[in-house]
Amino acid sequence: MTITARSDFFNDREVLLDPYTYFEKLREQGPVFRMENRDVVIVTGFAEGVSVLLNHADYSSIINPEPLAPLTFTPEGDDISEQIAAAKPVNPALELLVTYDGDRHTAARHLLNPLFVPSRLKANKDFMARYADDMAKEVVAKGSCELINEVATPYVTMVIADLLGVPEQDRQKFREVIDAGPPPGNMDTADQDQQAPKGSAALTFMMSYFYQYLTDRRANPREDVMTELALARYPDGSLPEIGEAVKSAMFLFAAGQDTSAKLLGNAFRFLCERQDIQQQLREDRALIPDFIEEMMRLEGSTKATFRLSKRRTKIGDFEIPAGQRVVVALPAGNRDPRRWDDPHEFRLGRPRIKEHIGFGRGAHTCAGAPLARVEVAVLIDRFLEHSRSFDLSDAHHGPRGSRRVDYEASYIIRGIERLFVEF
Ligand code: HEM
Repeated sequence: MTITARSDFFNDREVLLDPYTYFEKLREQGPVFRMENRDVVIVTGFAEGVSVLLNHADYSSIINPEPLAPLTFTPEGDDISEQIAAAKPVNPALELLVTYDGDRHTAARHLLNPLFVPSRLKANKDFMARYADDMAKEVVAKGSCELINEVATPYVTMVIADLLGVPEQDRQKFREVIDAGPPPGNMDTADQDQQAPKGSAALTFMMSYFYQYLTDRRANPREDVMTELALARYPDGSLPEIGEAVKSAMFLFAAGQDTSAKLLGNAFRFLCERQDIQQQLREDRALIPDFIEEMMRLEGSTKATFRLSKRRTKIGDFEIPAGQRVVVALPAGNRDPRRWDDPHEFRLGRPRIKEHIGFGRGAHTCAGAPLARVEVAVLIDRFLEHSRSFDLSDAHHGPRGSRRVDYEASYIIRGIERLFVEF
């Protein structure tokens, strides 16, 4: 089988390995494409994708991150805004910030503010620098590693745990439970989700820990980040119910895991394949931030985000009925030739590169983007500092020119499962 516009974005293994060819096939049909076998529209155009992400009047995030799960109501008429506003969550276990709309979303997002003040980010950056430096020295001295599980994943877990102030003795447990669970947007259960959405064991586990931390801090405030989260107030000055504070803290932990770890994997793989760029960064590490932006555009770690139309609308000339499930294909927008010259080429220093949509756009733009940028930059910097060169292991991935890597079976995450690197 080869990839065609009829391939299934949600469970086709060839599309998993090469989503870019798939998106090009869809693009040949136009920037907005209606899937044949599912009630889903996929947006591959940059301008069209941005227009959907910015259009909070016509679109809801209620189907994030399980776009195939059945709605809890039957859409009626050309405007279902009120039905959506009154709807039960598609999956109560995943009723989190990314699914909220309007004022509720603005208020919940406000609760994250204490984490992203400059002093907190600075303290977190100091932690990253120390942790990444130790890790890079140790791994390079060993001569080889499996980068995803030995380096990237533990590193991002420790960084977010530090940011949130998760006690050190609990961090390993978080790591284990996240490792044991399936990826978000699991392809293997794409169609089961349609019949019976499931909760996530990892989220439930984390929820119980954050509940303990935050109730403790409300009763006994201390000088720590967890106390600030526990006492964070809505914009109108009211204190959220404890459950809402717990969800926002816990969700940060979940949202920043796979995405950042997999971006690290994609970036290291690229630097192995492109020794010239690796050398260029070694010679001038000030280029690392630009490198990361171009990686986010070319091989970002999030393939899609999902919206449900609230009312009859249009994307360009394309008619969208109320209740339409819409996939905004972020990597497709990031390779749209109408927006980017030679879009499949890696180019350092592209003009206005930060306009890529790898972190989304609009009210739901990734809250952790500043952290993700810094954590990835710091780790790459430390590995360049402590090594003279690194490359993929031929024994695991085959010789240069015919290499193979496996991707995590997810329709949301673009991430290599295992990456064997030699120093
Ligand atoms: C390379 C790494 C990352 C990528 C590619 C990424 C990607 C994204 C994208 C595309 C969205 C928008 C979803 C939408 O529009 O529906 C998003 C939202 C979000 N991300 Fe990230 N993310 C990354 C890292 C992180 C980190 C490290 C954190 C936490 C510290 C984080 C926290 C969040 C949160 C809380 C939201 C929800 C924002 C909202 O709904 O208002 N992300 N992310």
